[in-house]
Amino acid sequence: MDTRQHGGSTWWKEGVIYQIYPRSFADANGDGVGDLRGIVAHLDYLNDGSADSLGVDGIWLSPIYPSPSYDFGYDVSDYHDVDPVFGTLADFDLLVAEAHKRGLRIILDLVMNHTSHLHPWFVESRSSRDNPKRHWYIWRDRPNNWQSVFGGSAWEWDQVTRQYYLHSFLAQQPDLNWRNPEVQEALMAEVRFWLDRGVDGFRLDVANFFFKDDQFRDNPFHLGGLRGYDRQRHVYDKDRPETHRALKAFRRILDGYPERMSVGEIGTEDPVVAASYLGDGQDELHLAFNFTFTHCGWDARAFHGAIAAWERALPAKGWPCYVLSNHDVTRHYSRYAAGGQGDARARIAAALLLTLRGTPFLYYGEEIGMRNVRVPRREIQDPPGKRYWPFYRGRDGCRTPMQWDSGQGAGFGAGVPWLRLGPDYQRVNVAAQSRDPNSLLSFYRKLIWHRKASPALRRGSYRALIEKPVDSLAYLRETPEQSVLVCLNFSSRLTRVDLSAASLPAEEWRVLLTSAARPGEKVKGTQFALDPCEALILEAR
Ligand code: NOJ
Repeated sequence: MDTRQHGGSTWWKEGVIYQIYPRSFADANGDGVGDLRGIVAHLDYLNDGSADSLGVDGIWLSPIYPSPSYDFGYDVSDYHDVDPVFGTLADFDLLVAEAHKRGLRIILDLVMNHTSHLHPWFVESRSSRDNPKRHWYIWRDRPNNWQSVFGGSAWEWDQVTRQYYLHSFLAQQPDLNWRNPEVQEALMAEVRFWLDRGVDGFRLDVANFFFKDDQFRDNPFHLGGLRGYDRQRHVYDKDRPETHRALKAFRRILDGYPERMSVGEIGTEDPVVAASYLGDGQDELHLAFNFTFTHCGWDARAFHGAIAAWERALPAKGWPCYVLSNHDVTRHYSRYAAGGQGDARARIAAALLLTLRGTPFLYYGEEIGMRNVRVPRREIQDPPGKRYWPFYRGRDGCRTPMQWDSGQGAGFGAGVPWLRLGPDYQRVNVAAQSRDPNSLLSFYRKLIWHRKASPALRRGSYRALIEKPVDSLAYLRETPEQSVLVCLNFSSRLTRVDLSAASLPAEEWRVLLTSAARPGEKVKGTQFALDPCEALILEAR
């Protein structure tokens, strides 16, 4: 029986979501590739109801559908099944049931901008110009100047029917024609398939790419980088107004089921554009990723600016979400590791992510400080990494197998892993860090469980307390019943944070959590001395 409630539930606002890249989390059948049974076997690690587990509330699975894997699942050849490499629909049902037993929600990755070129819809579409599915994809006699995100023209010549089709990503990922109502209906039927099966939400792949200009106008030139894609302003091949109407229709379907959510991947540098996909805050996507943190340097000012811009951009009823790492970017541990400060900085980053107003998304392995792994060129699997750029090494480095223990294969599985392990797995692994109360993993656990127990951290307001930060950030999270003060020293020096002008709600504070070895449990006054790279979380007494 589905006990989920209609309306009112805020699990997706107050909870912590954990992204799993299924190929790389845990391999139960020993074929070297992670699978659904492997995930089931580790659900207690994610949340067994006790503070000895990580304590997350939901899992986002990168695509698990059948796929020829030109882009590892982001090229779907069947929307309503499970790729045999990951298991079966029965395994999926087991995963949902076991997750729900533990209060964990399951979020699927929906890739609706494009399918695989081997999806039966495209096979039909390309079979002849008068096939009924011809206009399910975007066919043209002549290409315009649009570029593929992965390099080269976005148009591929089809020898058989002598026209070009559009692919915003790989040629093996033809773009669907969202202007065709049949396409929207077919996609929404797939959405219902999974909702009826019990999934709790969806992450929408490139949700701002669905509609393209109906006149196929050339994008204007713009000097944004070296790649062809970055030398255009993408006014005609994404962020078209029609997308909002389609997402509103999608939202209505979700709202017909209890407690479901959606989060959109919005590829943009502009928080205002990302926020526009929330509609009025209640009628489009529930959440939209804003990727600013994934390219912030290690600089308190940069983070402060990113948070302020995001808070400003959101509609009044909108809710922020934050992410430091995912399967497309260099792991943040490595981005911030300069000067041997890796662990200390990873703690600050974690404290920031888990105490801001908004839903935090973790990426598997960040809780143990997994690094980006240098994968030799000959072993690179990520196709865009192989094909286009001699220096670009692709995204394999952030997708290496989860490091569970120091045994052979790092506890990932009995087979030879599909991608090499991090060379540090004997030291950096779950088993070792579980035994150590001072490990990064223990810090993440404490942060998440404190957050769970704190109304202010889960749903309180956010007020930045330092207008022009230099070394440190300080902010207040408040509900009527609780005030929490967060101070983060980004520098490797002792720092004093002076909040005397900030009209703090209390004079005496209790330490909820600190990343430093701090004597005493109480702090008084408005000046706070912070150790180098200290994350200090205080509660008003
Ligand atoms: C965004 C996904 O995050 C990425 O991994 C994928 O390659 C592209 N969309 C294409 O689906």
